[in-house]
Amino acid sequence: MGKKSLEERVMEEAEFLCSAVNSEEGRPFNLHFLVNNAVCNVICTTIYGKRFDYGDETFKKLLHLFEKFLKEETGFLTQLFNAVPILLHIPGVRQKVFRGQKEFMDFVDVLIHKHMETWNPADTRDFTDAFLKEMKKGKAAEESGFNYNNLRLVTADLFGAGSETTSTTLRWAVLYMILHPEIQSKVQAEIDKVIGRERSPTMEDQVSMPYTNAVIHEVQRCGDVIPIGLPHKTYRDTELQGFFIPKGTTIITNLSSVLKDETVWEKPNEFYPEHFLNANGKFVKPEAFLPFSAGTSEGRIQLQVRGTVRGVICSFHRDSSVV
Ligand code: HEM
Repeated sequence: MGKKSLEERVMEEAEFLCSAVNSEEGRPFNLHFLVNNAVCNVICTTIYGKRFDYGDETFKKLLHLFEKFLKEETGFLTQLFNAVPILLHIPGVRQKVFRGQKEFMDFVDVLIHKHMETWNPADTRDFTDAFLKEMKKGKAAEESGFNYNNLRLVTADLFGAGSETTSTTLRWAVLYMILHPEIQSKVQAEIDKVIGRERSPTMEDQVSMPYTNAVIHEVQRCGDVIPIGLPHKTYRDTELQGFFIPKGTTIITNLSSVLKDETVWEKPNEFYPEHFLNANGKFVKPEAFLPFSAGTSEGRIQLQVRGTVRGVICSFHRDSSVV
């Protein structure tokens, strides 16, 4: 994915974010937009090989259209059409209801086309270049998914799945630190001890910072930013906690029920970093820590079927009717 590792991109962007925060010089301001800018920029560097200045007009437009697209996706009408999809057959409705989505996708097209103009097969700058390289391999590659339409959809998917989740989690982290100054002090003490104030943190520091690591995990557990996972379909008959689930059933996971499971977590509804620390202050990760869901690999399915993780399934649907 280009020349810089993801870690370097995050570190670089974190510095821009910190100096933008510093430039407020202690005045009250809304952190939301700055954090959004920073997170979207990390996704931009991955997809387009470069970051944008926060005041850049293209970047502002991208964020504005993306925000509109998100609002539309979570709005009342979209929920209504999800529940009653037949309404989408009314002439003109799709164009009207999904206008934001179309504008965002049109803008993604513009960015991809700009990239195509400067594309050089000998120099893979980023994700878009790598995808274009695969697309050029011919019909078989195209049929296996490396086609233009998938490139624009995957791009939108990375923005959609990666930005709001991460920036909301970061804002929860700031809020919890404000609400728990004693925890904030302990985190700061560990940062000062392990990293100091002269250099940036790296992923290598993580193993030496059990308390901060526990706090970050607790932010994700309590923040619970995706309470209900995405729908998945069973590819074979299976059994889960005594329930028979036929092949082809849509499963929607209830991640909240796991992250707040009172049989696993000592204080499920409190911010308590000790959930991730053992008696010796060493970092531990309980099996029920599933903010990213359980994954779709066979191993994970076995884990759920054994019933070691309670309450993962909230509802099963088959052929649109609840079983
Ligand atoms: C704290 C941050 C994040 C959280 C809590 C989170 C959580 C999740 C969850 C719960 C799912 C659904 C899994 C399922 O039900 O199978 C998901 C899917 C996904 N996530 Fe994340 N995620 C985060 C950050 C990211 C980032 C940074 C990226 C990439 C830039 C990303 C890319 C994706 C993609 C591509 C999917 C699949 C979407 C689809 O199938 O349409 N996520 N994530």
